[in-house]
Parts: sequence; structure tokens; C-alpha cells
Amino acid sequence: MQRSATRAGWTIVGLVLLFVLIQGFVWHSASRGTLGLTGDTSAIERLTGPMPSLMALFAHMITGALVTTLSVIQLAGPIRRRWPLIHRISGRVLAVTALLTGIGGLIYIVLSGTVGGTLMSAGFGLYGALMIIAAIQTPRLAMQGDYDRHRRWGLRLIVLGLGSWLYRLHYGLWYGTTCTLSEALCGLAAEPDFSGVFDQIQVFAFFLPYLLILEWWMRRKPQPIKT
Ligand code: HEM
Repeated sequence: MQRSATRAGWTIVGLVLLFVLIQGFVWHSASRGTLGLTGDTSAIERLTGPMPSLMALFAHMITGALVTTLSVIQLAGPIRRRWPLIHRISGRVLAVTALLTGIGGLIYIVLSGTVGGTLMSAGFGLYGALMIIAAIQTPRLAMQGDYDRHRRWGLRLIVLGLGSWLYRLHYGLWYGTTCTLSEALCGLAAEPDFSGVFDQIQVFAFFLPYLLILEWWMRRKPQPIKT
């Protein structure tokens, strides 16, 4: 009893910390997306391409900000248990916004490519495709009453929903560490045109390892998952 209360306490601390940590990126994404959609297409300087692709990408930044926030809310077991209605409403909004985010990102990739070239387009393309699949599967299985698979797909959607933030976190940690070590090492293997080895690993490393860890964890825990 004492142990489970301590665990619940740490879970809440972890969730609150995660919620606080994502706020900078959520604000960046929502504000840049709004600026872009309201006419300031230089909101993110490196973005290029036909106007429809830019609009799709700016829209995906606004829906993506919601996806990042709602992923943490859906992860919160205490909210789901105490306020199931909030869990259901935010789950529906998460599924719709994740679907739109994936579609918006893919439109940009198809029409304009990415700053990092073919490899980055492949990594981000896979990321978008997986997000679209998870956004469809999660509510579909809930509607069919298959709650075990619904939870599994919901967890995959949450991991993907946090992926974009994790991408920036990896860069922050990399620059923070290498620049602290020495000036010569600062930003090692990361290039402004995203052609460095670190950049090339990152195009998959912000979602694939986390999905693999989740799959391993779900296989270790075949009984219904209590998050
Ligand atoms: C999870 C929610 C997401 C958020 C919050 C988000 C946010 C952003 C932001 C703010 C940018 C502008 C660049 C920057 O400031 O770093 C961006 C760029 C981009 N995003 Fe997303 N994104 C999300 C999901 C996705 C998905 C699912 C895809 C895949 C289809 C995607 C594809 C792209 C692409 C292709 C770019 C442009 C890359 C380049 O610079 O060439 N994003 N995203």
C-alpha cells in the first residue's frame, strides 16, 4: 500500500515535470505556426517551397503543439482514472490533431522535400505515416470495444506524439554536452544543412528506439497495461 502510494506520487511528479519541459517547444511550434498561417511565411527561415506546402507545414505546427500537449495528458493515468470523460475528449482531439499533423507534414515533404535531403525526408515520412496509422487505429479499436489493443496503439501514438519534442531535446543535449566539453567539439557531427552523422542518425532516432522500447515493454507485460 505504502509502496504503491509512493509510486503514484513519483508518477505524478514525472508527469508534471514532463508537462513543464515540453512547454517551450509547444509555444515555439504554436506561435511559429500561427505567424506563418497569418502571412509571415519567414517565421521559420529555412522553409521553402510552394505556398500550399508552407501552409500545410505551418498548420501542422499548430496541430502538432496540441498533439505534444495532449500526449502528456493522455499518458496521465490519474487523470484517466479520476476524470474518464476528460480522457475520452482529449483522446479524440489527440487522434484528430495527430492525423492532421501527419498529413500536413507529409504534404510538405512531397511538395518541398526537407532541408536534410532524401534521408531526412525518408525518416520524417516514416514518422508521419506511423503517426497517421496510430491516429486511426487508436479510436477505431476503442469503437470496436477492443480496449487492450486500443491501449497499445494509444501508447504508440503518445510516443510518436512526443517524438518531435524528443528530436529537439536530443539536439539540445548534444549541443549542451559537446559545447561544455570543448569549443572544438561543440556541435560535433551536426551541420547547419543537417548533413552531419549526428543529424543523419537523428532522422530515425527520435521515434524508432522509443517505439522499440515500448514494444519490448508491452511484450514483457502482456496483461492489460495500467499507465
Ligand atoms: C508531434 C507534433 C509535431 C510538432 C509539434 C512539430 C513541429 C514542427 C516545427 C515547429 C517545425 C519547424 C522547424 C523547427 O522550428 O524546428 C517542424 C518542421 C517539420 N516537421 Fe514537424 N512537428 C510535428 C510532427 C511532425 C510529423 C508527424 C511530421 C511528418 C510528416 C513532421 C514533419 C516536419 C517536416 C518535414 C518539417 C520541415 C523540416 C525541414 O526543415 O525541412 N512533423 N515541425
